[in-house]
Amino acid sequence: MALLLALDQGTTSSRSIVFDAEGRIVAVAQRELTQHYPQPGWVEHDPEELWATQRATLVDVLRQLGPRVRELRALGITNQRETTVVWERASGRPVHRAIVWQDRRAEQACARWRDQGLQPLVQATTGLRLDAYFSAGKLRWLLDHVPGLRARAEQGELACGTVDSWLLWRLTGARVHATDVSNAARTLLWDVRTGAWSEALLRAFEVPAAWLPSVHPSSHVFGELDPTVLDDPELASRLPPLPMGGVAGDQQAALFGQACFEPGLAKNTYGTGCFMLLHTGGHWPASQHGLLTTAAAQAGASTAYALEGSVFVGGAVVQWLRDGLGIIRSSAEVQALAERVPDSGGVALVPAFTGLGTPHWQPHARGAIVGLSRGSTAAHIARAALESIALQSAELLQAMNADAQAAGGAPVRELRVDGGAAVNDLLMQYQADLLGIPVLRPAVTETTALGAAWLAGLQAGVYRSLDELRALWRVQRRFEPQRPRAWAEGEMARWQRAVRQVLAGVD
Ligand code: G3P
Repeated sequence: MALLLALDQGTTSSRSIVFDAEGRIVAVAQRELTQHYPQPGWVEHDPEELWATQRATLVDVLRQLGPRVRELRALGITNQRETTVVWERASGRPVHRAIVWQDRRAEQACARWRDQGLQPLVQATTGLRLDAYFSAGKLRWLLDHVPGLRARAEQGELACGTVDSWLLWRLTGARVHATDVSNAARTLLWDVRTGAWSEALLRAFEVPAAWLPSVHPSSHVFGELDPTVLDDPELASRLPPLPMGGVAGDQQAALFGQACFEPGLAKNTYGTGCFMLLHTGGHWPASQHGLLTTAAAQAGASTAYALEGSVFVGGAVVQWLRDGLGIIRSSAEVQALAERVPDSGGVALVPAFTGLGTPHWQPHARGAIVGLSRGSTAAHIARAALESIALQSAELLQAMNADAQAAGGAPVRELRVDGGAAVNDLLMQYQADLLGIPVLRPAVTETTALGAAWLAGLQAGVYRSLDELRALWRVQRRFEPQRPRAWAEGEMARWQRAVRQVLAGVD
């Protein structure tokens, strides 16, 4: 049976997963990634470590496959988005650590651009907001702070890109400098509607065009794996030619891996953050409720779009309970602790550790625990932390439905879920109760990697149509809403009061 390989380079780890054509996992390998925090609000990754960990997992799964490596047909890449890498074309050496999507150092540049009145141009061109989250501000910071960088970039000595571009460069033995539309759409420099780098925005942000990658559909032959880069001659000699047939940002890859191919289908990924994407087909909606408009993974000739809501701290709040507050020893303990109490006892936890994303977009907000009483316990706080993941996600869905309603469309009817925290039944049931629609957890929750594998598989002819993929997507568990809507409205009102307190604390 044909096998497909997905490289999933995420914020906290690099992974490689091999799927068979039916979507079953055949081999998997993972390496953690060091997080560098050189100053408050700054987050960096070492590009050499990004590559080394990714390559190690790739070699690991190839070895696990043994003689079955011959069945491999194609390779796909999916990646943490927006994170920005700059390297020398001649030597392949990075010139700086990668600036991670969570990093807020570009906030000053973004504030200046907002003051210059650039937000409407940005929204109309990219569907995004002038926020430090996206790549343009990070590139501008590098141009302003790394000596000699601007001149070298303008002379074409340097290449820049998101993590997919960096990995493609290394995997192809420095032959390919490219990205796909779903990653380009997160840079703040890509004109999503015309499908080209925006000259107007490059000029406004003073970012040179010479160091940008070429952009292709997500299902496309970007190049071929250069087996010598594996540094394992025996393994390399057994490898078939491996076309790199798919590239997509992790959230768009997950939308694809959830078989959300048509307007109205939505998924939420519960990872470090939470990212909810609603497929809008060929229609490019401008959100009136704080959502982003972005390119979905492109598998055919035409561009497809999605509305996206981003929660910056989702599952990461559980890590904070473990590492910051110390009330659990491992993330897996959170459900048992939260289940010791029937509800959060009026406690609300707003995990605005790095500001608030959709729909508030307040970079200066900071977290809070409100509603504490003498009877509040660690269990109430754990429960409130879990609930914050679902409550923030519910705000995203509310914004999507409000946009849909304003456009005369139908509200979202069901939500497909994935990511680490989607295994938590308590959280998924609370989510369904809050939303009032079924929450569907698929049999394969590795939808991000699966999406990249499917994009590559389409290109390699393993699949002939989206219908084939649709038939492969299966539900493992369906969470039906069990609480009255009045209860959900009460929960949301309590949450919104807590958020208002947090926003009121911003200078
Ligand atoms: O936009 C950031 C997102 O792509 C990061 O995803 O799964 O690496 O936390 P993840």
